[in-house]
Amino acid sequence: MTSAPLAAVTGADGFIGSHLTEALVASGHRVRAMAQYNSFSSYGWLEVLPRDVLAEVEVVLGDVRDPGSVRALAEGADAVYHLAALIAIPYSYRAPHSYVDTNVTGTLNVLEAVRTLGTPRLVHTSTSETYGTARTVPITEDHPINTQSPYAASKAGGDRLADSYHASFGTPVVTLRPFNTYGPRQSMRAVIPTAIGQVAAGSRTITLGDLRPTRDFTYVADTARAFLAVGTAPADRVVGRTFNAGTGQEISVGDLVRLIGKVMDADLDVREDPQRIRPAASEVMRLVADAGRLRDATGWAPEHDLERGLARTVEFFRDPAHLARYKTDIYNI
Ligand SMILES: NC(=O)c1ccc[n+]([C@@H]2O[C@H](COP(=O)([O-])OP(=O)(O)OC[C@H]3O[C@@H](n4cnc5c(N)ncnc54)[C@H](O)[C@@H]3O)[C@@H](O)[C@H]2O)c1
Repeated sequence: MTSAPLAAVTGADGFIGSHLTEALVASGHRVRAMAQYNSFSSYGWLEVLPRDVLAEVEVVLGDVRDPGSVRALAEGADAVYHLAALIAIPYSYRAPHSYVDTNVTGTLNVLEAVRTLGTPRLVHTSTSETYGTARTVPITEDHPINTQSPYAASKAGGDRLADSYHASFGTPVVTLRPFNTYGPRQSMRAVIPTAIGQVAAGSRTITLGDLRPTRDFTYVADTARAFLAVGTAPADRVVGRTFNAGTGQEISVGDLVRLIGKVMDADLDVREDPQRIRPAASEVMRLVADAGRLRDATGWAPEHDLERGLARTVEFFRDPAHLARYKTDIYNI
């Protein structure tokens, strides 16, 4: 009898990582999941997964900034999915050193572990933010990189290390570049939970940052399927390559909030909050994906349109037990 393949996941305690953990278990994997060490022994969002899913998950507390911790996570794994990162753009203005430590050095630690252990597959996580404001649309993987925030720069640093490990050592790394992902469990620093959370908490005056930028919003279950697709595809199709994951549909933040009002059946008064406005040259004004390369290599296609994904997200935030985990009355960065 062959045993189930073992996937090691960094950032498994987070929004996308917890959904990916569920998707890996659903597709027959065992998962070794890193939750960032903390003295509360909190496993983050892994704590809300159903018992039968958790039965297939070994949770280990650790830190990607620590090489030994990463190596122990990757030992014996058939694939490593590296999602751990600091991801908030506003906080990257305040604490840029921590972004380099986590997103650049942390990625280097993962690459070194995979290289020295001979792990058969590494999926490294990039972000559409590395493209900056679109110069041509839809954005293909050949679009120039233009890092407009310390967050984007630190992610691009990790990407370049991943590329260099493939070129220098033949490390079997594939880079997935998700566009804005949304859904249950996302943190309040992102626009969709911010708007839905404020409405679910009873407010009809919604305060947000700039309403003009456009984004390509991908539902988290579709993003998790994209990770699985590149993590399990034949090596000759994906290894050494970068893949966008997005829907190809773009919507402005202002129109998005109007759509949220429609889905939640609420009349909303949307206001721009000056403290949420980013420096002009740092704000990415337009992102929309061409995910044709991912579709051609793996057959991946998104299954949720925005209205359907928002309805599922609203359902999550309307549950008082879920909403209680959030602070809807402050600016979360
Ligand atoms: N959410 C999006 O729209 C989006 C879009 C593109 C790319 N991404 C990328 O996807 C990945 C996951 O993002 P997310 O939205 O789930 O964010 P998240 O903040 O919910 O998850 C990131 C997780 O990384 C963990 N982490 C942070 N520092 C760590 C450390 N030093 N050691 C170990 N773990 C650490 C955190 O505990 C957190 O749970 C990130 O790499 C992010 O850059 C996200």
